[in-house]
Amino acid sequence: MAQQEVFASVLKEKRVFRPSKSFSKNSYVKSMREYKKIYRDSVKNPEKFWAEKALQLDWFRKWKKVLVKKGDFYKWFVNGKLNVSYNCLDRHIGAGNGSKTALIWEAEDGKVKKYTYSQLLKEVSRFANVLKKYKLRKKDRVCIYMPMIPELAISMLACARAGIIHSVVFGGFSSDSLKDRIIDSKAKLVITCDGSYRNGKVIPLKQNADLAVGKCRSVKKVIVVKRCGNRVKMKKSRDLWWHQEIAGKDIKDKFNAVSMDAEDPLFILYTSGTTGKPKGVLHTQAGYLLYAYQTFKWVFDVKDNDIYWCTADIGWITGHSYIVYGPLACGATSLMYEGSPMYPKPNRFWKIVDKHKVTIFYTAPTAIRALMKEGDKWPKSCSLKSLRLLGTVGEPINPEAWIWYYNVIGKKRCPIVDTWWQTETGGILITPLPGATPLKPGSASFPFPGIVADVLKENGKRAKPDEGGDLVIKKPWPGMLRTIWGNDERYKETYFGKFRHIYLAGDTARYDKDGYFWILGRSDDVIKVSGHRIGTAEVESHIVSHKAVAEAAVVPVPDAIKGWVIYAFVVLKRGNKESDRLKDDIIEHVAKHMGHIAKPEKVQFAEDLPKTRSGKIMRRILKAIAEGQEDVGNVTTLADPTVVDKLKRERIQ
Ligand code: WTA
Repeated sequence: MAQQEVFASVLKEKRVFRPSKSFSKNSYVKSMREYKKIYRDSVKNPEKFWAEKALQLDWFRKWKKVLVKKGDFYKWFVNGKLNVSYNCLDRHIGAGNGSKTALIWEAEDGKVKKYTYSQLLKEVSRFANVLKKYKLRKKDRVCIYMPMIPELAISMLACARAGIIHSVVFGGFSSDSLKDRIIDSKAKLVITCDGSYRNGKVIPLKQNADLAVGKCRSVKKVIVVKRCGNRVKMKKSRDLWWHQEIAGKDIKDKFNAVSMDAEDPLFILYTSGTTGKPKGVLHTQAGYLLYAYQTFKWVFDVKDNDIYWCTADIGWITGHSYIVYGPLACGATSLMYEGSPMYPKPNRFWKIVDKHKVTIFYTAPTAIRALMKEGDKWPKSCSLKSLRLLGTVGEPINPEAWIWYYNVIGKKRCPIVDTWWQTETGGILITPLPGATPLKPGSASFPFPGIVADVLKENGKRAKPDEGGDLVIKKPWPGMLRTIWGNDERYKETYFGKFRHIYLAGDTARYDKDGYFWILGRSDDVIKVSGHRIGTAEVESHIVSHKAVAEAAVVPVPDAIKGWVIYAFVVLKRGNKESDRLKDDIIEHVAKHMGHIAKPEKVQFAEDLPKTRSGKIMRRILKAIAEGQEDVGNVTTLADPTVVDKLKRERIQ
């Protein structure tokens, strides 16, 4: 469904869906009255609210001050000491839950592996000892470039246990993207895999890692998990096999969790922004953990016997917070699936739900739309009766997809939590609480307790109901990013530059007369393609690095399944002839250098781009052209207004 249609249908959809009495009765927050009371108290004194919540974690030393502010930089739980992996593992074992299943992993070929909390602790500790053996110390950086296999979660937790900062790079990124991220974080060690399975095929991850690491001087060791058994080159004195290292006689089962300061870095996760260079979003220990813990507990209303499945990749923030840290901090059972939703058939997700009796299911609207398109026969071939709660994340959900999800997957029995948040926010900020909130399809509803969300107009004044404007967060929260790795200035400018001391999300939104928030989409140069966050500037710089290309501009256009896709305008260097082959070559070039998720869907050759007299490309006009709008707006500021008509004529449908 195209984005304009989404908004049109959102406006038409008037139904409200309430949780059943029995769901509400058994949930943590049972009614809107209760939510409103908790919310009111929480924002009156957020420090008190979060301090109370923080007592649920295990601290090696209690904090002295809950919040310290210096300009736009915040510190939470100052002087407190804890360890994130201790809170995710040892704490539950200490409470007698060592034999509870922590992780269920299903491979693309259907093989299943389960880890109890005790088993996971042993694996994590052994791997932490391997990291120690190779002289990795507190605050060193380790880059993790892996598919969705248990070793990915184990690596993250092992880093957390040893106080090492991890930087997970999505396995779908190419070697260039990986290289840039390694160089920025100066990682000393890379953990990767021989290959990854996707739709039954093997993707050669180690080969990509080799290309990247070859150009990174900081990297001393590469640890390789054997997953696919494909042939890989192991570089002597640099490359090590995971299974050999972990089995080493000198490797012990115990590793004492390092006592970390509440504000020591936990991880860096790169995400796209307005410039070509990805931002290394930095999250720290205690605040992030608490935020992931509390949001997971209340939003997913998790109970001891739940089987929870989030279909995201751990390479994105959703996987960090809601496959690994949130669920494990809560002592829940978290399922992780290796492969594609369509493999071997479009009922794979539903089969996994039945096979493992999944009770809570969290996915992206793009996946829902793609599966909806395949027809009802697929979910109808499964029972899905174990499900009790559904969730979505990553982009706005159109009411049609919402209703399908509600009726066909949830059988009108399961509330849907439409959760709005970002890499930067660490966890969910705007969301229904499933036992309390009457749901409006397409709305992420209300702020989580402790979160002061608002919509501002350009002049900084509060927008009126339904008026729309910039989505902002007015008070700090424990899970917020602390800075951009190595770039405090960019942090201040990007998030606090527009409105003084107020966090700018980069989304436009409105709230309605009942106070429900409706997220309308990005307001900056970021495109959400199938829920993946792609920076236009990054794609442009990869297109321009093609030898035949002189200049490029990319804009988002709406797509029925993916939400948005990338439309590229490309100016060739003199002497190059326009051809379909060259188009394909440019698209492949982007896939090779950035990753498949960043491939332009459409490429239009252009002799010239619409520019202002000072040479600035007018993306607003290009977007209107790509969308096929007759009226592309004001063109009087263009150096040469005639380019517009030509581009309009040659638009790719
Ligand atoms: C978008 C993903 C509408 C939004 C967790 C945000 C959403 C960006 C929703 C962050 C939602 C996320 N409704 N839009 N429920 N959730 N978004 O950093 O544009 O990959 O700014 O984090 O996704 O993407 P990121």
